[in-house]
Amino acid sequence: MQNILITGGAGFIGSNFVRYILNKYPDYRVVVYDKLTYAGNLDNLRDVEKLSDRYTFVKGDICDEKLVDQVMREHQIDTIVNFAAETHVDRSLMGAGSFIKTDVYGTYVLLEAAKKYGVERYHQVSTDEVYGEIPPGYSSVETDPLHTRSPYSASKAGGDLMCIAYHTSFGVPVTITRGSNSIGPYQYPEKVVPLFITNAIDDIPLPLYGDGLQMRDYQYVLDHCEGIDVVLHKGKAGEIYNLGTGVETRNIDMARLILRLLGKPESLIKHVRDRPGHDRRYSLNCDKIKALGWHSRHTFEQALEKTVRWYVDNEWWWRKIKSGEYWEYYKKQYEGREL
Ligand code: NAD
Ligand code: TYD
Repeated sequence: MQNILITGGAGFIGSNFVRYILNKYPDYRVVVYDKLTYAGNLDNLRDVEKLSDRYTFVKGDICDEKLVDQVMREHQIDTIVNFAAETHVDRSLMGAGSFIKTDVYGTYVLLEAAKKYGVERYHQVSTDEVYGEIPPGYSSVETDPLHTRSPYSASKAGGDLMCIAYHTSFGVPVTITRGSNSIGPYQYPEKVVPLFITNAIDDIPLPLYGDGLQMRDYQYVLDHCEGIDVVLHKGKAGEIYNLGTGVETRNIDMARLILRLLGKPESLIKHVRDRPGHDRRYSLNCDKIKALGWHSRHTFEQALEKTVRWYVDNEWWWRKIKSGEYWEYYKKQYEGREL
């Protein structure tokens, strides 16, 4: 493993992973391949650009077979880690086409390239959302059936199934991680935690869906990156690994803690009409990845505190994003929704 193609490396988790890998493995070369959609941002990679002997950026779509093939050949890629995806559930409810194209067809294009060039490993970054809503008292294991309920999770599940198919049918050495909600630096402020933090800093209401009693396993992004690294190096081809803290938090408690950390009043929380088909709870059993030696290094409180601090210290990053186009989306998503 030496020449790694990191697709979607200009996004939130991808850019944190690029930095993590370049720091940890001085002999690895990284090629970031990213379409730079609204969620992709070269500001996320500013500090790694100076490592020009080990880092290359290519702007491209994972659905573009020709360009993917060219990059595989020119950079002698031996490992693919696929972060590229359309990732926001609310946007998938507005229109699912781009999700199906990137998350399903794009995955197929990368798998074909992995097969043709005989890579050492193809790693698919997936999500706990493929298991669907999980009843109280249960945590998903990797062999559970998939019960997707949103167009986003259905697209991600399509990608996962294609990975398993390429392993079974063609022997492509595929691994999959199904990660829980991640938080930390460089997360686009459409996702709930950076949206709530940046709204709270500006005294804008925090739009909490429905009763706010839905539960997510919020993990620190570097724990997520470390888990992918562990699976990449120690995981077995053909296997799936859940990746999260195993501890869930209610959205309303997450919102209250953000406000407390910023010294803002709870009156900023505004309940709004719920998301259609909202999964009330995700919960992962992570014994399988723990058996590889991975463990989560941050509690939810530590992860949230670090995340809040980063957004407070890095207004240069998010104020640029929260401008014209972002507010167009925001209006469409939230206007007239207050209960
Ligand atoms: P993100 O939305 O921040 O970034 C996605 C990146 O993919 C962007 O840089 C975007 O430009 C790029 N991209 C989109 N379509 C592309 C295409 N067709 N070709 C090339 N690049 C394209 O996403 P994220 O939150 O960093 O998530 C990364 C991966 O992790 C996704 O596969 C997502 O499903 C998965 N995941 C995310 C979370 C989470 O909490 N954010 C949790 C579990 C799994
Ligand atoms: P989100 O960050 O969109 O991640 P996902 O839906 O993929 O888990 O949302 C996390 C939780 O926060 C989810 O239960 C929906 C809720 N939420 C709100 O209450 N308000 C919001 O404005 C957003 C974006 C999400």
